[in-house]
Amino acid sequence: MSFTVAIDGPAAAGKGTIGRAVAAHFGFAHLDTGLLYRAVGRRTLDGTTPEDAALALKASDLEDDAALRHPDVAQAASRVAAVPEVRRALLHFQRAFAARSGGAVLDGRDIGTVICPDAAVKLFVTASDAVRAHRRHAELIAKGHEIDLDEVAADLRQRDQRDAARATAPLHAAADAVTLDTSDMAIDEAVTRALEAVEAAR
Ligand code: C5P
Repeated sequence: MSFTVAIDGPAAAGKGTIGRAVAAHFGFAHLDTGLLYRAVGRRTLDGTTPEDAALALKASDLEDDAALRHPDVAQAASRVAAVPEVRRALLHFQRAFAARSGGAVLDGRDIGTVICPDAAVKLFVTASDAVRAHRRHAELIAKGHEIDLDEVAADLRQRDQRDAARATAPLHAAADAVTLDTSDMAIDEAVTRALEAVEAAR
C-alpha cells in the first residue's frame, strides 16, 4: 500500500532538508518536485516555450543539481510553474511517484492541495522571510554561487508572490496540513517534529 507524506511551503523554508530526513528515517522515496519546475525553467532560457520544455523533459535533466540551483533558473521555474499546461504535464509523474509501494515523500508547493489531496501526512513548512533568505544565501555560497544576501531575499520574495498569486495550484496550506514554523528551530528540532507527525499517522 502507498503511504504519502506531502510537504509544502514557501521557498527555502526547509522542505527539502526535512523531506530528505523523513524519507531516510522511514526508508521512503523522496521527490523534490521543485527540481521538475527548475528543469523545465532551465530549458526555457534558450527561448523554448514552457509547454515544449515540459513535454521535452527527461530524467537526465534533473541530474545537473548545481545548474538547477542557480537563482536565474529558480526565477524561470516560478514563471513556467504558472503555466497550466506545464503543471498538467508534470502531474502524472508526481502522482505515479506518490503511489509507489513502500512510501513516498514529495515536497513542493501544491502537493497536499492538488497532487496528493489524500496524503497520509501533510506538512506546511514555513519560516520568516529573513531566516529563509539567510539559510538560502548560506546554501548558495556553500555551493560556490557568488550572490548577495539582498539578491537572495529579492528572489525569494518575488517567487513567493508569484507562487501564491497564480490562478493554477497557488501556494497555500491544505486545510488539513500541520504547519511547522522553523524560524526559531534548529534543523534537528524541525526534523524531529516532522518525524513525530509521520509516526502519528502510521
Ligand atoms: O522548491 P523550489 O524553490 O526548488 O521550486 C522552484 C519553483 O518551482 C518555485 O518557486 C515554484 O514556482 C515552482 N514549484 C511549484 N510547484 C511545486 C514545486 C515547485 O510551482 N510543487
